[in-house]
Amino acid sequence: MKRFLILFLVLPAFLCNAQEAGKMQWFDDAKLGIFIHWGIYAVDGVGESWSFYNRQLTHEDYMAQAKRFTAAKYDPQAWADLIASSGAKYTVITSKHHDGVALWDTRADDKSIAKMSPAARDVLTPFAEAVRTRGIKLGLYYSLLDWSHPDYPNIYRDGPAKYDIKADPARWQRFLDFDDAQLQELYNAYQPDLWWFDGDWEQDAETWKAKEITDKLRSQNPKCIINSRIQGYGDYGTPEIGVPVVRPADRYWELCYTINDSWGFQHRDVNFKSPQMVLRTLVDCISNGGNLLLDIGPREDGTIPEEEVEVLRELGRWTAKHSEAVYGTRAGIPGDHVKAYTAVNAKGDVLYLYLPYKPIGPVEVKGLIDHIKNIRVVGSDIAPKWKIFNKLSWTEVPGLLEITVPEEALDSAITVIAIEMDGPVQLYRGPGQVITFNE
Ligand code: GLC
Repeated sequence: MKRFLILFLVLPAFLCNAQEAGKMQWFDDAKLGIFIHWGIYAVDGVGESWSFYNRQLTHEDYMAQAKRFTAAKYDPQAWADLIASSGAKYTVITSKHHDGVALWDTRADDKSIAKMSPAARDVLTPFAEAVRTRGIKLGLYYSLLDWSHPDYPNIYRDGPAKYDIKADPARWQRFLDFDDAQLQELYNAYQPDLWWFDGDWEQDAETWKAKEITDKLRSQNPKCIINSRIQGYGDYGTPEIGVPVVRPADRYWELCYTINDSWGFQHRDVNFKSPQMVLRTLVDCISNGGNLLLDIGPREDGTIPEEEVEVLRELGRWTAKHSEAVYGTRAGIPGDHVKAYTAVNAKGDVLYLYLPYKPIGPVEVKGLIDHIKNIRVVGSDIAPKWKIFNKLSWTEVPGLLEITVPEEALDSAITVIAIEMDGPVQLYRGPGQVITFNE
């Protein structure tokens, strides 16, 4: 019998290194972050950087969008308010995408909103300040590769290469020095809580000097978190767009995800997900122990599409009502116990069930060993009814738990049930038992 028992305790710190667990704590607890892709690509609504790389337009036409990037209605306080009200605990903004155009007034070259556009100012600093005053952690997206830089070997997918890195290491070193100079500017100005690298795939770890880059950033701020896109030197996994079907192997991970089908603003893309669909994805991430980094793509003038605002507002309503079942939770139990997303609290003695549907009968939970102290609907005073069936003396297979949620207690998007146990969640994972005695 014993071999079928699984004790579902929160992954104790001793499993990973305690220092790392300490550093990762806020990230592990945060569950929701807001990603922002803002750049000159929003002017004509073309794919961020990729559109020229894939020759959908010339590099020259792409860069010419900068002349029409106005930031005329940009309100960083309002952005920060919206992010805070969504319930997100951190944000990640594209300080520089693969096109090389910096949102801050970089001194490392002339490619910035400040120098190339009528906005004519650093648009990153006021945002960084606004989020920090609201207690939101700041993450900076930074593309290691820069397809517009004279010392980066390529502009277009199909070439031609400007030079061969191995044949001209001095030129490549000039590019690495440029990245280093920009990273130092960003560090000095913002001390980001999180470095969100991208574009590492074009070179290997040795060519990027990935170890040197991450060692330096970590020595400057041992608490900074670094995502995985720096050829194996990061702290957490970053599955992109595709929601993981099975639990990712990384202890820490974050799904970066779009609200429509694009990262940056694209006029023609109206394939917006509904707020409920995005909430379902958030809960899916939570139940698998990860975070959701949800992207918004502001227009060139700094306004945020209404459909995206609506999604963030609904996230805010739902996360505020269900905060105990969001922040600080840990991955839930295997899906064969209940037809719902699940998670546990940090202590491991409350099991949360997330119902993204309206049940037409009781919700059934199989294989829960512990004694149940109480069952409630999170954010509601209306008590659900519950009953255990078939808890028979001759078998150690737990009985079937049935929970009936009154219609008035259902949430308009996703209902959360909290099952409070008298100890850490324990599960029976066996094939059932044949009778050996009866009473
Ligand atoms: C990709 C793309 C990019 C996007 C990013 C967001 O790696 O290069 O356009 O910014 O993912 O995760």
